[in-house]
Amino acid sequence: MSEQDVGSDFVVVANRLPVDMVTGEDGEPEWRRSPGGLVSALEPVLRNNSGGWVGWPGQADTDVAPFVEDGLELHPVPLDSDDYERYYEGFSNGTLWPLYHDLAVKPEYHREWWESYVDVNRRFAEATAKTAATGGTVWVQDYQLQLVPRMLRTLRPDLTIGFFLHIPFPPVELFMQLPWRRAVVEGMLGADLIGFQLPGGADNFMILARKLLGLPTSRGYIRPLARHGSITHEGRTVRVGAFPISIDSSRIDRLARSRAVRDRAAEIRRQLGDPGVIMLGVDRLDYTKGIDMRLRAIGELLEEGRLDPSDTVMVQLATPSRERVEQYAIMRRSIEEQVGRINGEYGEVGSTMVHYMHRPVGREELTAFFVAADVMLVTPLRDGMNLVAKEYVASKVRLDGALVLSEFAGAASELKQAYLVNPHDIDGVKNAMTAAVSQDRETGRRRMRALRRQVLAHDVDRWARMFLDVLRSTSAQEPQ
Ligand code: ADP
Ligand code: F6P
Repeated sequence: MSEQDVGSDFVVVANRLPVDMVTGEDGEPEWRRSPGGLVSALEPVLRNNSGGWVGWPGQADTDVAPFVEDGLELHPVPLDSDDYERYYEGFSNGTLWPLYHDLAVKPEYHREWWESYVDVNRRFAEATAKTAATGGTVWVQDYQLQLVPRMLRTLRPDLTIGFFLHIPFPPVELFMQLPWRRAVVEGMLGADLIGFQLPGGADNFMILARKLLGLPTSRGYIRPLARHGSITHEGRTVRVGAFPISIDSSRIDRLARSRAVRDRAAEIRRQLGDPGVIMLGVDRLDYTKGIDMRLRAIGELLEEGRLDPSDTVMVQLATPSRERVEQYAIMRRSIEEQVGRINGEYGEVGSTMVHYMHRPVGREELTAFFVAADVMLVTPLRDGMNLVAKEYVASKVRLDGALVLSEFAGAASELKQAYLVNPHDIDGVKNAMTAAVSQDRETGRRRMRALRRQVLAHDVDRWARMFLDVLRSTSAQEPQ
């Protein structure tokens, strides 16, 4: 029997496995949930579909045999320190990440980073080719693996291949900076279906396929979940669509209603000194998230007397992220300086204005923070979706609270009853914050009810089903 006869019918391929190997306090390796929205979204999907997950175990120079964790078959792809530096920190997070986020910082273009990206993508494609069963479905995830669909199709033409980009796909004039632009677009075109968060990203890709590769494409704008585009490439039809990702809404709703979480939320409020207003930020510590801007807005509001430091508390939870990449280190210093300055100016003995925790917290604890928070600040300069915004809404089972949300987060296209802000307009952000702080109870309930309707009806299972239905119908029409 060949390996493929015993492989998985459904395989997710992502840069990271859903769990990261970390070194525990006793010096022994242990597994911890991986950071980021991709894992938050896909983990429940995979548990419902059963299948395999191909990904990096989260530590360089570690080779781990395939294993089963909580019913999931995990297939680790090792990265050595050079891969980590060039493929992960370099090309993925020093080139593509800023290029795809509106040049939030300047992308760097280095040939040795690109070579490593090609090499690591090939190893992911090879590992997947060994893992997927004959005629199986493979779902490749995100910007780190854009070359995998084409490489995998060459290795395994029997597979149905989907690709989903979790981050924004940039306008053509920005993407054209990339020296390896053709190879990236061709890499993605190896898929049967390419999914983006928003129609804008999908339209950008369609334009590129026409302009850069001269391919025949369908015309007309793409509509989320409803109207897809198509591109003819190497005798195949590649579908392109917009599929806004979501969360396991009912799970968070249930968690927020639980006695343990409610008690913990009340305790958090007490521990913070029972302030009139708790503001909350929850982010990976990333320069795209607008954490520094939100702190500056708070600092100015305090200075202008529009926020009362004796009655307001800000909590910022920040998961450490990509810490050796220079721009992340610069951003961390700037945030920590601002926290220090605000607390120096407005803190008192026994009462701190900004509570800043630079570490991940567990799901239950996080939900308790959402339940406790009166105003949630989600202010990215650009974000593919932003699941935190949706998690907050799903946690507000009592219809209290207010969401201040950047127009430049994908979530803004669905969460229209949030206090929408342009994060580049600091006065606008300050006005929205004060409006959210002082909203009357009925207005707040009305807004939150509408937000919750959207989030509860459009959960991550629906997202996955919609994507996979289109993917499977595409391959059914076109036998290989
Ligand atoms: P990204 O994928 O860019 O990190 P998202 O907002 O889409 O951004 O997803 C972030 C995910 O990580 C969410 O599920 C959020 O709850 C989780 N998260 C963010 N910060 C923390 C934290 N400090 N502790 C635990 N989980 C966090
Ligand atoms: O979608 C955003 C994303 O970059 C995921 O691809 C990634 O897994 C997550 O954020 C966390 O980033 P990292 O894997 O670089 O820690």
